[in-house]
Amino acid sequence: MNRFAARLFGLILFAFLVSAVAVQPANAQQDQATHIHHRLLPAGATCATCHKAIFDQWKASPHAANGVECTVCHGETTATDFAGKPGLGTCDTCHTDQVAQLKSDPFMKGKTCVSCHQAHIFTEHKKAAPEGK
Ligand code: HEC
Ligand code: HEC
Ligand code: HEC
Ligand code: HEC
Repeated sequence: MNRFAARLFGLILFAFLVSAVAVQPANAQQDQATHIHHRLLPAGATCATCHKAIFDQWKASPHAANGVECTVCHGETTATDFAGKPGLGTCDTCHTDQVAQLKSDPFMKGKTCVSCHQAHIFTEHKKAAPEGK
C-alpha cells in the first residue's frame, strides 16, 4: 500500500468508527450486549444453566413458591422489552400497597424496593430474636 492509500484507508476507518459510535445510544448498546448472550442460548438451556446462584436464591423464595417465574419480572429474554433490572412498575402489579407507600412516604424518598430487599431472596428483615437466643 502506498502512503496515500494508507491515509485514505485510515480516514475511511475513522469515519466509520465515529458514525458507528454516534448512531448507537449507550442504552441500545447495553441491551444488545445482554441480548447477544441470550440469542445464543444452547438448546435445552434454562435460566438455571447459566444463572445458578440466582436460580437457587429465587427457588427458595416466596416468589418461586407462588409461581412468580423469572420471566414474570424480566420478560422473555428474546423480547425487545426484556428488563435487565425490572422497575417499580413490575412490583406494582402484585404489591400495590408497598409501591404506593414507597411513592408517598417521605422516609422512602430516593429508595427502591431493592434498597431493602435483595432482588432474588426477598426475605423480610429478621424479626428481633426471641428471649434467651
Ligand atoms: C447460555 C447462558 C444463559 C442462559 C441460558 C440465560 N442467560 Fe441470562 N445472561 C447470560 C449472560 C452471559 C449474561 C450477561 C452477564 C451477566 O450479567 O451475568 C446474562 C445476563 C442476564 C440478565 C442481566 C441483564 C442486565 O442487563 O443486567 C438477566 C436479567 C438475565 N440474564 C436473565 C435470564 C433469564 C430470565 C434467563 C432464562 C429465561 C436467562 N437469563 C438465561 C447468560 C445466560
Ligand atoms: C420478583 C421479580 C424478579 C424475579 C421473579 C426474578 N428477578 Fe432477576 N432481578 C429482579 C430485579 C428487581 C433485579 C435488579 C436488581 C438490582 O437492581 O439490584 C434483577 C436482576 C437480575 C440479574 C442481573 C443482576 C444480578 O443480580 O446479577 C439477573 C442475571 C437476574 N435478575 C436473573 C434472574 C433469574 C435467572 C431469575 C429466575 C431464576 C430471576 N432473575 C427472577 C427481579 C426479579
Ligand atoms: C406476579 C406477582 C408478583 C410480582 C410481579 C412481584 N411479586 Fe413479590 N410476592 C408475590 C407473592 C405471591 C408473594 C408471597 C406472598 C406475599 O408475601 O405477599 C411475594 C412476596 C414478596 C416479598 C415478601 C418476601 C417474604 O419473605 O415474605 C417481597 C419483599 C416481595 N415479594 C418483593 C417484590 C418486589 C421488590 C417485586 C418487584 C421487583 C415483586 N415482589 C414482584 C408476588 C409478586
Ligand atoms: C426502607 C426499607 C424498605 C423498602 C424501601 C421496601 N421495603 Fe418491603 N419490607 C421492609 C421491611 C422491614 C419489611 C418487614 C415488615 C414487617 O416485618 O412487618 C418489609 C416487608 C415487605 C413485604 C412482606 C409483607 C409485608 O408487608 O410485611 C413485602 C411484600 C414487601 N416488603 C414488598 C416491598 C416492595 C414491593 C417494595 C418496593 C415498592 C418494598 N417492599 C420496599 C422494608 C422495606
